[in-house]
Amino acid sequence: MDFKDVMYQRRAVNFFDPEQPVSEALLRELIETASNAPSSFNLQPWNLIVLKDAESKERLKKLAWNQPKVGEAPVVLIVLADRNGWKEGHAVVERNFQELVRAGAMTEDKREWFLGACGGLYGASEERQQAFACKNAGFFAMSLMLAAKNLGLDTHPMDGFDLEGVRNAFHIPDNFWIPLLLAVGYFNKDKELVLPKWRKSHADIVVSF
Ligand SMILES: Cc1cc2nc3c(=O)[nH]c(=O)nc-3n(C[C@H](O)[C@H](O)[C@H](O)COP(=O)(O)O)c2cc1C
Repeated sequence: MDFKDVMYQRRAVNFFDPEQPVSEALLRELIETASNAPSSFNLQPWNLIVLKDAESKERLKKLAWNQPKVGEAPVVLIVLADRNGWKEGHAVVERNFQELVRAGAMTEDKREWFLGACGGLYGASEERQQAFACKNAGFFAMSLMLAAKNLGLDTHPMDGFDLEGVRNAFHIPDNFWIPLLLAVGYFNKDKELVLPKWRKSHADIVVSF
């Protein structure tokens, strides 16, 4: 699809066709495409829990304001943001450093500098850890939505859920924040898509202080 079409045609659709599954290959392609999202120091502090079976989606739906799309969408993703994804010893952090060395972008003697930079930026406070995790996972989530549209899929991001309830029900460790749930599937063509929503204009967005 043309990029502008992807941007303008992506919608948070409320109604999914429960009879139209998303193939495993397409879901994989979606996730791998979105994995190209940028992240701080390329730390990629995101993970996904993929729910497809009716029982898991029903369990999640009860914790997500009973939003019908959680049950109807063939796939619902629990997007996870890793607040520890900058720390020494974390598998991704260690791999990332080794990849930088392999690529010739760092040398082994820069390890202390690298870990210090990550710690200084992202570990300086709880707020910084939270921001680190959520902004990067947000870029990933947006990439999932755009990649989905490009692959002919529709999505719906959701904040309306009981975070601690979902954490408990799906055994999500404390280092993860849950920035959103993302329903993925095909729009139910028997339903009407609400008209495109208003957006802030260029003049509304650009400010100076
Ligand atoms: C982080 C986030 C959380 C959202 N949570 C919900 C939600 O819980 N329930 C819902 O119906 N819509 C939710 N939305 C959808 C927004 O209402 C929707 O994206 C917005 O109105 C713009 O519509 P559009 O995406 O179709 O352009 C959420 C969107 C985002 C980005």
